[in-house]
Amino acid sequence: KEYIAEVESFSSKSKEEIETFRIKFSGKKGIINDFFAEFKNVANDQKKDFGQAINALKIATEAKVVALKEKAEANEEEKGVYGDLTRPAAAIPLGARHPISLVKNRIIEIFSRIGFNVSEGPEIEDDWHNFSALNLPEYHPARDMQDTFFIQTDPDILLRTHTSSVQVRYMEENKPPIRTISPGRVYRNEAISARSHCFFHQVEGLYIDKDVSFADLKQTLQYFTTEMFGKSKIRLRPSYFPFTEPSAEVDVYWGLETETDYKMTKGTGWLEIMGCGMVDPNVLKNCNIDPEEYSGFAFGMGIDRIALLLYGITDIRMLSENDTRFLEQFKATL
Ligand code: PHE
Repeated sequence: KEYIAEVESFSSKSKEEIETFRIKFSGKKGIINDFFAEFKNVANDQKKDFGQAINALKIATEAKVVALKEKAEANEEEKGVYGDLTRPAAAIPLGARHPISLVKNRIIEIFSRIGFNVSEGPEIEDDWHNFSALNLPEYHPARDMQDTFFIQTDPDILLRTHTSSVQVRYMEENKPPIRTISPGRVYRNEAISARSHCFFHQVEGLYIDKDVSFADLKQTLQYFTTEMFGKSKIRLRPSYFPFTEPSAEVDVYWGLETETDYKMTKGTGWLEIMGCGMVDPNVLKNCNIDPEEYSGFAFGMGIDRIALLLYGITDIRMLSENDTRFLEQFKATL
């Protein structure tokens, strides 16, 4: 009993002291073994009590040693962590930005340098903002250019097919001069393949002021493509959009200048990157801007396609599959 009390009150932080304690009780020549040796000399009627007492001492000793050892080890570990100030900090696992965000942020940054702000609008739109205000009245054949998802049975409510809808909203709420870009997700009822998806992302731009000319548009595109791609050779091909007149398609020349160029594009030549044009006077009128006083240009590009181009991604579907093996590859990219 005395010994049990001694065991229970023992406490020490040093490993050596714990070891001495262990040997004193549980060692080969320790107290517990002495008691076991004495067992045969104990009177028969006391054997049961005596045995139980030794066992209790044995269990108490073992438990004590384990507890103290654990404490001592934890103590040492703590000293290691806090004691060595030159130890490198534990790494914090960082995520990666999505390639769509990377490209979008870069486009925003480039246009913000020449005074464009960012505007946003709803993905569920009404017919007016997505089509009618943009010179695409009902039954206009050009509506077929953008296959549309409608919300249930109401033909007036749809998923926006482009962020031109945001430009309409912006013109309705702001007076010129207007310089804004509208990034966002858009939807089109298209078959999903490696090259196209039923949703993707756009950045559209709008510039409205007095005396804005086609030359201003060209110069802005030139600035953008140089900043964005490091390539300044662009070509404008005549095209058609109901909301711009004249309209053009912009191609950037991907020459085989360096080996990296080749790796990125797996080909060379003219690559279409956006649509643009001078805002149609009808559109300005629809948004309460006087076309006699103001003129402007607009442009729109697909972020996904540019991401494929810049990062050499071969399948657009990878952008929405959230496979971390794919996404982690953008960790080092800013
Ligand atoms: N809204 C057009 C599209 O989604 C792009 C565009 C924007 C073209 C502005 C011209 C001017 O295809």
